[in-house]
Amino acid sequence: MYLLSEEEIREKVKKREVKISVIGLGRVGLPLAATLADCGFDTFGIDINGELVKKINAGDSPFKDEVGLSELLKRNVEEGRLTATVSLEEREFNIVTVPTLIRGEEPDIEAIYAVAGAIRKPRDKVFVLESTVPPLTTQRFGEIIAESTGYKAGEDFGLAYSPERVQAPQVLRDLKTYPKIVGGIDEKSGFIASEVYSCFAPGIIRVSSPLVAEMDKIIENTHRDLNIAFANELARICEIYGVDVYEIIKTANSQPYCNILNPGLVGGHCIPMDPYYILSEVERRGYTANLIKEARRINEAMANHVAGRVEGEKVAILGLSFKPDIKTFEHTHTLKLIDALKAKSREHEIVVHDPFWGGEEFDFRVEKDIYKVVEGADCVILATAHSAYKKMDWEEIGKRMRGDLIVDVRGFFDAEEVEAKGLRYKGIGRVFHS
Ligand SMILES: NC(=O)c1ccc[n+]([C@@H]2O[C@H](COP(=O)([O-])OP(=O)(O)OC[C@H]3O[C@@H](n4cnc5c(N)ncnc54)[C@H](O)[C@@H]3O)[C@@H](O)[C@H]2O)c1
Repeated sequence: MYLLSEEEIREKVKKREVKISVIGLGRVGLPLAATLADCGFDTFGIDINGELVKKINAGDSPFKDEVGLSELLKRNVEEGRLTATVSLEEREFNIVTVPTLIRGEEPDIEAIYAVAGAIRKPRDKVFVLESTVPPLTTQRFGEIIAESTGYKAGEDFGLAYSPERVQAPQVLRDLKTYPKIVGGIDEKSGFIASEVYSCFAPGIIRVSSPLVAEMDKIIENTHRDLNIAFANELARICEIYGVDVYEIIKTANSQPYCNILNPGLVGGHCIPMDPYYILSEVERRGYTANLIKEARRINEAMANHVAGRVEGEKVAILGLSFKPDIKTFEHTHTLKLIDALKAKSREHEIVVHDPFWGGEEFDFRVEKDIYKVVEGADCVILATAHSAYKKMDWEEIGKRMRGDLIVDVRGFFDAEEVEAKGLRYKGIGRVFHS
């Protein structure tokens, strides 16, 4: 389709005649493939995981917590618009949503290059990377294809970057809520990608190059990491002065140009990882991004700071998901907290409560019953602010605990209410009364 005229392309998209593939059917790729199929496109989902492919072709969603995906997937598989396969077959419009990782502090984008290396017939096709990547990865993707096939991006085939700004497990909702950023390697690539994405996205932001689009994504999350690091530093300062960080943040944010986030542990797929995508790249080019580096250090150090507040050996942690009120585990801050507690003392006996978890295999106990979790605990830590924790029976908790210490990482509990029941309250960045 890349070699067609703009008018022909517009018509082809309008009639839903574009054949699409989504490569990588994970948290991001599968909801995206189902959305495109539901728009009316003949969509192939490609994944190296054969079991996953079988499950998808049976119309069975592997991500039950992604609201609406089960029905959307079943309908589009049954009606023949969505088919999963393990074999990489280039189609007219190909979206890459394979995993990108961090090893230590270094980006690992091998899966992206594996896809580029497997492409055999790129002529007239369009490729759009959506995985989060270090700057200039899209350009390199095009070069790899050119080296193995002789065809060039921007001449023989289209190439663009369009970051996925969604958050699992609310991808279906976010896809239809957030504007889509598109950076083409040339005008035509950007045009085609924008036409296709316009079928479901509420708006398109065309940027001047794939590099700008790549950096936009990383910078959004790096900015959030910096803002949280500032709140965490503020929390440490407030502890020195014995003032409440939340009171200060709320007051400061009443000034329209001030927008400080809350302190806490940073978990999840994007915020703790994406800053490293820029850090290592610029470092290789001779510049050290000290502010970004220090923000990462401050945020990672918070787990030790919280562990330092803990007293006693038996510790109950409230919250396993990295976000409140949903079941999501990838790179949760609670694991970092557990590691910090174990590093502080091998004697720590840790039990985790989460209303969304229980019965799964972990190397620590996870329970759904909060009273079982706090039974005999010396200390209870609130790690994730699930709304279920708003209605705590502190009297009952006090009776069940062996100790009396409540550590509140999210400034979530009412300290006076906790202390009125004879317990001690320690909030991060808050005034300690005892
Ligand atoms: N999960 C999120 O909330 C989120 C949000 C925004 C951006 N992202 C980014 O989107 C990308 C995908 O993330 P995800 O959470 O969907 O990952 P995931 O691990 O859930 O899924 C990736 C899928 O790709 C498959 N895969 C791996 N190598 C492949 C290959 N060579 N060919 C075909 N399939 C392959 C895997 O089997 C897996 O099913 C990452 O770059 C991530 O940073 C994720």
